[in-house]
Amino acid sequence: MKRVATNEVQDFEVEHQNLVRKLAPESMVLLKNDNQLLPLANLKRVALYGNGARNTIKGGTGSGDVNVRHFVTVEEGLENAGIQITTKSWLEAYSELKAAYEKKYYADLQEEAKANGENDMMAMMGKMPVELDYDLPLSDEDADAAVYVLARNSGEGADRKIAAGDIKLTKTEIRDITKLAEKYDKFVLVLNVGGLVDLDPVADKVPTILLMSQLGTATGDALADVLTGKAYPSGKLTMTWAPIEKYPSTANFGDINDTPYKEGIYVGYRYFDTMKIKPTYEFGYGLSYTDFEYQTEEVKADSESVSVKVKVKNTGNYNGKEVIQVYYSAPSTLIDQPSQNLAAYAKTKELKPGEEEELTISFKTAAMASYLEDRASNVLAHGQYLIAVGTSSQDTSIVAKLDLDKDTVVEKFKNIGGKVDFKDFVPKESLGEDLVDVPEISLKSADFNQVVHQYEKPSFDTTDISTKIMWDEVVAGEKTVEEFVASLSNDELVTLLTGNYTDGEGLAVIGNASSSVAGAAGETTHKLEKFNVPALTMADGPAGIRLSTVYSLDNEGNAHPVTSQFEGMQGAEQAKTNDNEKHYYQYCTAIPIGTAIAQSWNPEVAEQYGDLVGSEMELFGINIWLAPALNIQRSPLDGRDFEYYSEDPLISGLTAAAVTNGVQKHPGCVTTIKHFASNNQETNRYFSNSIVSERALREIYLKGFEIAVKTSHPLTIMTSYNLINGTHSCSRYDLLTEVARDEWGFNGFIMTDWLVTFAMLPNKGKYTTASPSQTIAAGNDMIMPGLKSDTEGILKAVENGKLSREELEVAADRILNVIFKLTK
Ligand code: BGC
Repeated sequence: MKRVATNEVQDFEVEHQNLVRKLAPESMVLLKNDNQLLPLANLKRVALYGNGARNTIKGGTGSGDVNVRHFVTVEEGLENAGIQITTKSWLEAYSELKAAYEKKYYADLQEEAKANGENDMMAMMGKMPVELDYDLPLSDEDADAAVYVLARNSGEGADRKIAAGDIKLTKTEIRDITKLAEKYDKFVLVLNVGGLVDLDPVADKVPTILLMSQLGTATGDALADVLTGKAYPSGKLTMTWAPIEKYPSTANFGDINDTPYKEGIYVGYRYFDTMKIKPTYEFGYGLSYTDFEYQTEEVKADSESVSVKVKVKNTGNYNGKEVIQVYYSAPSTLIDQPSQNLAAYAKTKELKPGEEEELTISFKTAAMASYLEDRASNVLAHGQYLIAVGTSSQDTSIVAKLDLDKDTVVEKFKNIGGKVDFKDFVPKESLGEDLVDVPEISLKSADFNQVVHQYEKPSFDTTDISTKIMWDEVVAGEKTVEEFVASLSNDELVTLLTGNYTDGEGLAVIGNASSSVAGAAGETTHKLEKFNVPALTMADGPAGIRLSTVYSLDNEGNAHPVTSQFEGMQGAEQAKTNDNEKHYYQYCTAIPIGTAIAQSWNPEVAEQYGDLVGSEMELFGINIWLAPALNIQRSPLDGRDFEYYSEDPLISGLTAAAVTNGVQKHPGCVTTIKHFASNNQETNRYFSNSIVSERALREIYLKGFEIAVKTSHPLTIMTSYNLINGTHSCSRYDLLTEVARDEWGFNGFIMTDWLVTFAMLPNKGKYTTASPSQTIAAGNDMIMPGLKSDTEGILKAVENGKLSREELEVAADRILNVIFKLTK
């Protein structure tokens, strides 16, 4: 760990900014490019408009926001590229209107919070006004092209709204975009958004649409590179874009108590493709500056794996990268099936015009199995499996048929999740694929292996040790972690099971609970320092590391934020400057938001972002990065979708695994995959109950976590605020112990999301806060950020026999093993 005592720009900041700039175009999705208008070489003068032009959004708000020294807006990025902006007075006038509008909005909110006796920051978290309407004249000056940057923001604490100025365009936006597209031959609509905007009113009127997304520190520079052809976009959508009314989740979203996931497994393209509903832009879609041709050369399949060889050729005039997607369709001989599921994908290297690459894309045959609740098994139904290859979910062709002779159980589980009181949606018509003449491969049920999971109540069998052991003896290999655990008293064990609270604190700890790193979101306990047990520091993500940028140190070496850990967040306390203090600086890099990282469809890119974060973790003394976040984008209305990767569990899991690999390359640094699980709305988020069938849980909502755990072994998991089928996820033994540990082999520790055991906001619904002792009993080892009431709750449960010492030992052992691995 390094204390940076100068405010001067450090080398790592420049290197990381350059890296983000280089990688960011892989996340941009070219949605439309009529007559190959882009790239625009020789761009000298640009008429720049839109709410994201000067007030560019680098990433959403809340714990996922990263405090940076500076980030490059679109206006700056174009100017850095030597382009003259001809609309400075429009940008100025718009910014003034916006500032006044927002000032009033937040002042009113603050008043309301005061009147209700609520904590300002918590009551205002994530709330933001819809985009305003205005009447500003467009400029008459000459320009080579017009660029309209449309921005939307959202964040933890509030969901998005089906309203003009949020999911929908405002009248002003439709009017100005339409006028500009008519006036300029060269018109580019740039989307600086973290999720869906309903583009239907303008999509046909404009020649070019580029989903720039929110790309962190280098946003504006990366855009300039792509517009001018210095770089090229190669991202693809990881969520279906359609008018909001068409998503099956829209009808069941946002209730303060119960949210039934009636669409079952038919999330995103699984619904749109099955129902043959044409979205505005489909899952997996994205254009290039160049053209590609691809051809499937070979398909091989056996009981182990399916593998597809595809040759891709750049047939156009620019460099580019293409993503080849492999989908499968399973027969509905046992249970209903979506028309297709993503099975695997690969991105080419950079291909020059005329260049070719052969990709081999494989997946496990057993991954095509479906979960049958009545058998608690993953079963490959007998019949025909179709393998399709393409460049988006709606642009695929079937390349092989696999024929399985008998129903085949490939994995046997225990039922989990509880019952729901509705039947999941089942599509009426079956897909009815055209029969095509493609190679047919027979698979024999008898060749498949079967995995049968065993479930075991966690135990701790070292006899209690009465002599005290120092942690140094464990580090020296003289004693085991288990012996150390056995030597602790109940009180000492319990201190480990919560974060490092100081008595009496409640709301004060939100987002800043570390004494060694200013602005870090949490720490493991310091209360065992008497035995020399070190504390682990945790800081938020996913779009980089969120710390206070400026801090001071007291005489004991404790760090105190000078600038807020929530810089710019409405209602949060801001800088506490004192000129006599010596200041230290932590300028972390904002990387692209989760959705943008996934849009690269490139695990190598995701890993490089993880690596960048890992190196800053090492530098600033962070052990646990509270990211990646990989909840499924069930509905575009979720205020945190931008932090998440995709509506598809495979791409979510693989992206999280790649990011984790990047972080965990760094000694002493690990990730926390969050929010486990079904955290899909922000409305009444501490008390919202997701009602999900076991099939949808296992095939959609847990799948990404499973892939991440099995592929990259993250050492910690964070449970979610929400309840699942009536029980807080942090109190679900089935999810935490049986699924994560027994089935997947997770062997780190599990922590709660922040203050899930504490009524932070007035609870408007029917469910209560999570119980500290049930949380521990379920296998959620640590309550974060930790409150005195958590410790008291656990100890009380031990006293009255509801929790055993052994359960405390099991949890403490897991935590201390992680501490051991990270600090030895
Ligand atoms: C968020 C988490 C975050 C935690 C710590 C919570 O409000 O839901 O994602 O990691 O705060 O800041």
